[in-house]
This record gives sequence, structure tokens and C-alpha cells, in this order.
Amino acid sequence: MNITALKGVNDILPREIAKWDYLESCAKKVFSIYGYRQIKIPVIGESRLFVRSIGEQTDIVEKEMYTFTDRGQRKIALRPEATASVVRAYLEHKLEGQDLARLFYSGPMFRGEKPQSGRNRQFYQIGVEALGCEHPQLDAEVIILALEFLNKLGLKKFSLNLNTVGCTNDKDNFAKTLKTYLKGKLDQLCPNCQNRYKRNVLRTLDCKVKSCQKVIQSAPNMIDAVCPGCSCHFDRVKSTLDSLSVCYNIMPHLVRGLDYYTKTVFEITHADLGAQNAICAGGRYDNLIKELGGTKTGAIGFAFGTERTILAAEAENIDFPKEEGASVYIIGLGQASDEKVFELAQTLRKNQISCYLNYNTSRALKKQLRQADKLKHRFVLILGEDELKSNCILLKDMDKGTQESIEIKNVVSELKNKLNK
Ligand code: HAM
Repeated sequence: MNITALKGVNDILPREIAKWDYLESCAKKVFSIYGYRQIKIPVIGESRLFVRSIGEQTDIVEKEMYTFTDRGQRKIALRPEATASVVRAYLEHKLEGQDLARLFYSGPMFRGEKPQSGRNRQFYQIGVEALGCEHPQLDAEVIILALEFLNKLGLKKFSLNLNTVGCTNDKDNFAKTLKTYLKGKLDQLCPNCQNRYKRNVLRTLDCKVKSCQKVIQSAPNMIDAVCPGCSCHFDRVKSTLDSLSVCYNIMPHLVRGLDYYTKTVFEITHADLGAQNAICAGGRYDNLIKELGGTKTGAIGFAFGTERTILAAEAENIDFPKEEGASVYIIGLGQASDEKVFELAQTLRKNQISCYLNYNTSRALKKQLRQADKLKHRFVLILGEDELKSNCILLKDMDKGTQESIEIKNVVSELKNKLNK
């Protein structure tokens, strides 16, 4: 039987973990400076939570959500994103008592998309949500926070794209305007957009198909269609960003694939990525809390795609922390060393010195040394027959290439000394 991982569902191997940890620790540091607190939300949830929040006529809900019926006949979905669940948790646990709740999360999301570089079926996001406030300065705070994270990582080749989609009224009005514009040009749109024209016309604006883009180029702009209140909100967001010298591009056709957005929407793209170049996306969702049973209040957030952000960091040759092996690799030669090396490993561990032992005392020394080098262990301890007799052990420094014989009873103190413990 040859069982492999599902398509678009990847293993993240030990050699890659240092990068993932680094990304998460940078995010945690920056987010906590801005007062965001971590929340862990379930991977599964009721389907209707996502349908209601993301929108029935979106690609995610129509084509990509992984759903199943459980034994209690409940319709369950693997979360395709986290915003809906964070709002659900915010309401369920009455976090609104804190006025403005600033939350962050990280973890896997699931969407049945066609896998390609930077697009997976199980992918990870690191995101924040700020709930309970409509102030435009919060939009600026959240956007700056996303940029600060990238600065902390040391990334440079990214751009911030910004737009406003207005309130529900504006969206409805603009949908009508856009339909009027597209009506005579339907034959120039891809089949997908012809369908979107009927079901969710705003989505035609960010279609990547060339013929559609040509039509969309001259389509009316959302920015020109929003009401004075939403326009004023957007002006304040921009002026706050300007006051902090934040660079951004206004993208009048930027709409997002989730229906809950209102007012400010944004994405961050990276110059070194291919078709899937959005490393982060977010925006306001001022109706969602009420929609899910809360009182009307504003909220805004974003999510970084972790894999795409790592791809971007690799493309920019960011100096990630190196993968480290255990401090010590212990080699026992010959069966007689069995007990002693086991005992030694336990002694080291009890003294907080990490060590690796492979229980294979018949393996050639050369091979084991090569392995120790490959796994990046800092020191090697070798216990052969001679050492056993004399209660000594060979200590090899893999960085310096030096080797010395020391008494077994002094191993812990010698290693602590060398490891500065
Ligand atoms: P989204 O645009 O669907 O927004 O996803 C955010 C980011 O997740 C994308 O920019 C991308 O980097 C990454 N991403 C999305 N789909 C995939 C995929 N199939 N494979 C790899 N990476 C992917 C949201 O999910 C919103 N919840 C963001 C948000 C938070 N809005 C407000 N608060």
C-alpha cells in the first residue's frame, strides 16, 4: 500500500520548522506590542457560520469548502478562514465587554482550490482581528501592524494596495452600476465571470483572465461610487497613513473574495512571487458582528498566508535561524557500551543538555559521525571499548574539529562549560 499525503496538503518537515517558528515568533512580538492577545479557535465549525459570514455566492462557499455531516447529522465545515470563527468566539464569550478586543491567531485553513505554487488545500494563516470599533484610525493601526510584521521579518519587496468598497448600500448601488456597464460586454467575459455577473458581480473586478481584465480596465470605480460617510472614512484612513509616511497604491478595482467586507479593503503583494503574489489580505467588516447576533459595531483584520510569506522571505534571502540539532550526539561502539550510553544520555537530559542516541552500537563510527554532522549536532561523545575500560569518553567538537578524552564523571561539567550553561 502506497499512501501519500493528499494533493495540496503538505507535510512541513523538521528542517523547515525553524522558519515557521521564526515567523510566528516575529508575529507574536509585533502583535503583542500593539496589544493583541492570542486566541485559538477550533478547526471545525458549523457550516452555516462560514456560509453566513463569507457569503453564499462566493467561490469559497460555492466550490471550496470542505464539509461533512457528523454522526449527529450536523453540517460541519473545516474552517476556510478564521474571521468568522473569531467573531463567533467574540460573541459567545462576550469579549465585547472589553470595548475594543484585539486578537491574533495562527493555524491551518482548508479550501479545495486547485493546488499550485503558493496555493494549497491546507494552508496556514497568521492573522489579527480588532473588534468593536468603527474609528478609521483603527484601520490605519491594523494596516501598519501588518507592515510592521514584514519589517520585523526584514522583507522589503512588498506593496500595499488599498481600496474602499463602501457600506452595504454602496455595494448594492455599485453592483447595479457595474451590471449596467458589463451588460453589453458579456461575450467578452470568461464563463466564470458570466456566472459572477448574475450571482456576485463585484467579483468580476478581480478576475485574472486577460479578456476580463481588458473589460474591467474601463469599468466604473468603486471609490467614485461610495457615499459621503464612507468616502470621509477612507480619507481619514489615507491621511493617517500619510501622516506616518506609509506608501500605498490605491487600487480602485480591488475587491475581496469574501462578502463580509465593507469600507476599507487591502492586500499586500510581494514582487518575487508568481501568480499567487498576495501574502496578506484584509479589511473592515462592520456588519458581520450584527449579522452573527451581536450589536452593530465595527471590526477590521487581516491574515497573512504563512507559506507565501515564507516563500517571499526565501526569495529575499532573509537570514532565517538555522535548524539546530541536539547539543550532543552519543555514539556507543559495541554491545558492551549499551548500558553506559543509555545511562549517560539520561544523565545529560537530567542536566538540561539535549542529546541524541540511536541505539545502534554496531553502526560504523564514520557513518555515525557523518550523521552527526548532517543533523548539525554540536558535540559528539564516543564510547568505545578502550574508553569503557578506563572510564573515559571521547568528546569531539564538531565546529572546531577537535577531540579530547575526558573522564566520564566530568562529562556534565565539561559540556555545561562548553555550552555556557
Ligand atoms: P483571504 O484573502 O482569503 O482572506 O486570505 C488571506 C491570505 O491567505 C491570502 O492573501 C493568502 O496569502 C493566503 N491564502 C489564501 N488562500 C490560500 C491558499 N489556498 N493557499 C495558500 N495561501 C492562501 C481571509 O482569509 C480573511 N479572513 C482575511 C481577514 C482577516 N480579513 C479580515 N480579517
